[in-house]
Amino acid sequence: MKILVVGGGGREHAIISKLKENKEVTEIFACPGNGGMAKDATLVDIGAKDIEGIVDFAKQNDIDFAVVAPDDPLVLGCVDALEAIGVPCFGPNKDAAIIEGSKIFSKNLMKKYGIPTAQYEVFEDEDSALKYLETAPIPTVIKADGLALGKGVIIAETREQAIDAVKSMMEDKVFGESGSRIVVEEFLEGPEVSVLSFTDGKVVVPMISSQDHKRALDGDKGLNTGGMGTVAPNPYYTDDIAKECMEKIFIPTMNAMNAEGRTFKGCLYFGLMITKDGPKVIEYNCRFGDPETQVVLPLLDSDLLTIMKACRNGNLSEVEVNWKKENACCVVMASKGYPQSYEKGFEITLPEGSKNIFVAGAVIKDGKLLTNGGRVLGVTRTGETLEAAIENAYEAVKTVNFSNAFYRNDIGQRALLALKNN
Ligand code: AMP
Ligand code: GLY
Repeated sequence: MKILVVGGGGREHAIISKLKENKEVTEIFACPGNGGMAKDATLVDIGAKDIEGIVDFAKQNDIDFAVVAPDDPLVLGCVDALEAIGVPCFGPNKDAAIIEGSKIFSKNLMKKYGIPTAQYEVFEDEDSALKYLETAPIPTVIKADGLALGKGVIIAETREQAIDAVKSMMEDKVFGESGSRIVVEEFLEGPEVSVLSFTDGKVVVPMISSQDHKRALDGDKGLNTGGMGTVAPNPYYTDDIAKECMEKIFIPTMNAMNAEGRTFKGCLYFGLMITKDGPKVIEYNCRFGDPETQVVLPLLDSDLLTIMKACRNGNLSEVEVNWKKENACCVVMASKGYPQSYEKGFEITLPEGSKNIFVAGAVIKDGKLLTNGGRVLGVTRTGETLEAAIENAYEAVKTVNFSNAFYRNDIGQRALLALKNN
């Protein structure tokens, strides 16, 4: 069976590693993948947003199943285009991917169907947004409506910051058209939990919960990044919270999408905040999270391809989705300077035959693996306890080498503290 995975980061490497465990899989192609996954997949020099190129490639290479992983191609309709030529896919179609593609859509959906989320206002012109900010409660949160490489959310601690954020989005267009409409939303407080789920539009099966670490530096300081590390499960996600999320958020969201004629099939990601008034949705993503996937999939004890096919075919309730009773920790190793400017081209040495090192930004040149991105790779290790998983991950980090590497030293520490206080 020939599989095509669209995307090229650590998340895609984790998906590919798991898909390879299925004996029926004969070859995996990655569009475009990256040099660090060349041992696991055949790299195809077609960008993840080149829908036409991807469709042509799938047609010419008799692809049996495709997994579209990143937000951009999903929102652009990559699944629709592949399904139209008869390639079955894991991932939502364009109509359903709007749940991530437009924050205004997702906020209005939650309001209409009574799904708990922050209070908000939508603005389509700058003057009304600025007028509203004269009296809005501070801190406040400004969000660009469309996709913005994960950077379209600004937490404004002061009124001036809020005004600057609106101007940068609506006047200076720092996120292009994505910021021409914005959401201004209530600032919520509480621990954050990521819950990825499998859904076929009939049932929703949550994966093991996880916790991202978005800030660049130890102690949650520094700039926001794509994610510097993750742990799973997330201790803040207790059985009671999980039950409440299922009843008030997960099932209502699936039903809401069905009622809107936008049945969601694939991985629906719930970014949650556990506030004092209960769990609330911070954001939906229409895809696996990065680097959440790097801790979630190594804990999956069932066959990923079988589950993915069931999501697509509408028989998810008939397949097993089991989780190992373990913990996982992923430490992201980045290039010094990330998320701002950084140098590339340093040689990476990895331990021989090592599993669960998921490469995000690397290229092969003259037979050598060289750094080629801000987030270079994620080192995941499991353990019977969270403490052991963290220790194992940091031990493994020592076996990976490249110049100018930097990583956080405190991935999982907040979760450990929460465990102790539980
Ligand atoms: P996003 O890019 O949507 O994942 O948002 C980035 C981060 O902004 C989230 O992980 C939260 O930490 C924070 N955030 C988003 N919305 C809110 C909110 N309403 N209140 C407080 N923090 C928020
Ligand atoms: N780790 C957050 C995301 O994938 O959006």
